[in-house]
Amino acid sequence: MLRRLHSEQPESFAFTPANREWAEAQITKYPEGRQASAIIPLLWRAQEQEGWLSRPAIEHVADMLGMAYIRALEVATFYFMFQLQPVGSIAHVQVCGTTSCLICGAENLIGVCKDKIAEKPHQLSTDGKFSWEEVECLGACGNAPMVQIGKDFYEDLTAERLAEILDELAAGTVPVPGPQNGRYGAEPLGGPTTLTDGNENAAKYNASVELAVTIGDTVKRIDGTEVPLLKPWTDQGGRAVGAAPAKEPRPAAGQPVDETGTTVQEAPAKSTAKPDPETAAEISGTRPQWIDGPREGKADDLKKIKGIGPKLEEMCNFLGFYHFDQIANWTAEEVAWVDQNLEGFKGRVTRDDWVAQAKILADGGETEFSAKKK
Ligand code: FES
Repeated sequence: MLRRLHSEQPESFAFTPANREWAEAQITKYPEGRQASAIIPLLWRAQEQEGWLSRPAIEHVADMLGMAYIRALEVATFYFMFQLQPVGSIAHVQVCGTTSCLICGAENLIGVCKDKIAEKPHQLSTDGKFSWEEVECLGACGNAPMVQIGKDFYEDLTAERLAEILDELAAGTVPVPGPQNGRYGAEPLGGPTTLTDGNENAAKYNASVELAVTIGDTVKRIDGTEVPLLKPWTDQGGRAVGAAPAKEPRPAAGQPVDETGTTVQEAPAKSTAKPDPETAAEISGTRPQWIDGPREGKADDLKKIKGIGPKLEEMCNFLGFYHFDQIANWTAEEVAWVDQNLEGFKGRVTRDDWVAQAKILADGGETEFSAKKK
């Protein structure tokens, strides 16, 4: 099957603020120079947000990771989990058509999809609410035939039950996922024949279904504001989002990512996450006072400070420093902290004496360097 970008594309794509924050945290998982490794989770998040991957979404993710568009496109078109065309606004149904499901009635399920959704896979239903496709084994063979709808499995299906499920979804309810024939899990149809003791206190649903019902996002798009059921990865192992870089040597530090030159990414890549005040204590120094955005929406031109170019200015802004007077007031402890957090530019604050320069500029004066820049 040819996997191509859809003929109709939206003008643009942007992550919701919460999803962007999540995506930026994911990037910090990888060693410097290897940020492109975050491509799959970021593309997946974009798809979870929009339902499918548009060209602007793929390019947006590529930009975030410093990758050439063709590289991101290669990933998006290679993996079948990425939908390259719009999917139903309520749900996209993935029917398993592999051996176990096929001999247990998958063709009948596909017949339901053709009748109730659209004749061909990847076509939208006339009301735009549903789409479907046939997929390879989804690993629930013991409960064949089955479909995946959104994020969850509906198992032990009949054509009639699948038709009902689609009707229920269209009516705005989300049927309970899992076995649809009364089975709890994958035990024999007549009930368990072993390990029969102690089941009286079992949860109402099996663990997968219990989780699905608890989260309740079977067909929900992800805007990033959901209460995470698990702690974010960054809270595990004591390293929080934007934590100070690990002290061990970075395997890719100083190495180009790709000798072919196809990628525009360079090592060391910039870290885009704001250091967390809680974890900043891991490195010496004190985090200076930072602000969420420039006062009155207008940042000072930090490039007037000798040693600060566009990249460092961007980094300073990301760390919450926008104004000369902020830098002018840094103590030695704070300078030490900033010096260690400027990935790829460590020690620049001290080397170029930003504080002395910023004091002059904050008072309305000019340094020799800033005067020349005029
Ligand atoms: S064959 Fe359908 S889930 Fe494995």
